[in-house]
Amino acid sequence: MKEILIRQIPENDGANIRLKGWVVHHRSSGKLVFVELRDGSGYVQCVAFKGELEAETFETAKNLSLETSVIIEGVVRRDDRAKIGFEVGITSVDVICKPQEEYPISPKEHGVAFLLDKRHLWLRSSRQIAIMRIRSTIEKSIHKFFDSEGFIRFDTPIFTPASCEGTTTLFETPYFDNTAYLTQSGQLYLEAGAMAHGKVYSFGPAFRAEKSKTRRHLTEFWMVEPEMAFCDLEKNMTVAEDLVAFIVKSVLDNNEDDLALIERDISKLSNIKTPFPKITYDDAIDLLQKVGKEIQWGEDFGADEETVISNEFEKPVFIHRYPAVCKPFYMKTDPESTKHVLNCDMLAPEGYGEVIGGGQREDDYDVLKSKIAKQGLDEGPLEWYLDVRKYGSVEHAGFGLGIERSVAWICGLHHVRETIPFPRMMERMEP
Ligand code: 4AD
Ligand code: MG
Repeated sequence: MKEILIRQIPENDGANIRLKGWVVHHRSSGKLVFVELRDGSGYVQCVAFKGELEAETFETAKNLSLETSVIIEGVVRRDDRAKIGFEVGITSVDVICKPQEEYPISPKEHGVAFLLDKRHLWLRSSRQIAIMRIRSTIEKSIHKFFDSEGFIRFDTPIFTPASCEGTTTLFETPYFDNTAYLTQSGQLYLEAGAMAHGKVYSFGPAFRAEKSKTRRHLTEFWMVEPEMAFCDLEKNMTVAEDLVAFIVKSVLDNNEDDLALIERDISKLSNIKTPFPKITYDDAIDLLQKVGKEIQWGEDFGADEETVISNEFEKPVFIHRYPAVCKPFYMKTDPESTKHVLNCDMLAPEGYGEVIGGGQREDDYDVLKSKIAKQGLDEGPLEWYLDVRKYGSVEHAGFGLGIERSVAWICGLHHVRETIPFPRMMERMEP
């Protein structure tokens, strides 16, 4: 008897095998019982036939209920009607744990609030499994990309003494006799890392006390942030588009079944090839005003504006060179226009909004110092950051890609709450 994973079934035609998993579906019709089993590697239908089994074994198979954990032994046989081309003829069933109560999630429709309350169980549903598998591919592909491009992974702190992305979304926490803030972005530390290694990236959680209940905002989300020395805005955008094209291709190559299960229109993803369109902020304002949006130069884009812009393109689009007034202190002023900064945002297609924010950093000590003062920030906790400019400062740039928004776009999900195992939002911290 060979213990295998469901995914290995096609290589075991005719073999006696043992599977360990959970009951996903169950139906019986007199002499036959059909048990669909899940083990994390796939799904398979197992069939118990009364005439072939001892009465007790058949009764056990017949009485299985949803989400019972079991060990099933049986024979692999070809079945052209089955999705994986095989089924398992049951020879024995061992119940490991029978649910104490009826499993609360049934195939009928449930409200999202109920499902989020039961997130620890909802994660077992086939759609949620497919989404988490795609998320895993996305994360793996990110590491593969940066590794092959010669980046060093550089872990940045979670407890920080200062804000990176504005003081309005900081989470405060007591830190002995002081106050610490949960990191909004590892960027400032990555800039120090880039001066040591040339090319670095971090991959970790970021925290923002977003008081908005939109479908794009979490209070805890994951971000990958590359930072590169001797890099300008243009080169930064090239790395960003190469990364996104690589991620999309990895999902198309590795998650065909998962994409089919969640009914993603993959023709929209096959389109995602570099180069991506790039427009300036000023062009974007023109575009918005032409379609009658009431936005003035100097204002940042909201979800509405982002959707209008991204709908003009089939691929992700970069918007670069925003007004300095709506962006953080660390962004480098455009030498061609002091009112603009050398930043870039990437908007995903199909109205999924901003997935990347980044740009070139201010590398001049004096200019940076005056920007900190101008934005009314306390220089004390940023002294070390200024220090980085004192010794061999060079042109450098980087960006942050939000994992959850990328998963939402690639999976075609309406809301980011389904893109992370346990979402944290303004109105939800449980389970
Ligand atoms: O545009 P943001 O704020 O950029 C930064 O934090 C830079 N310091 C990154 C860098 O240059 N190293 O955030 C980057 C991305 C956004 O484009 C978005 O995808 C995601 O992080 N993001 C969020 N995702 C979910 N919920 C939130 N509240 C998010 N805030 C940002
Ligand atoms: Mg941004």
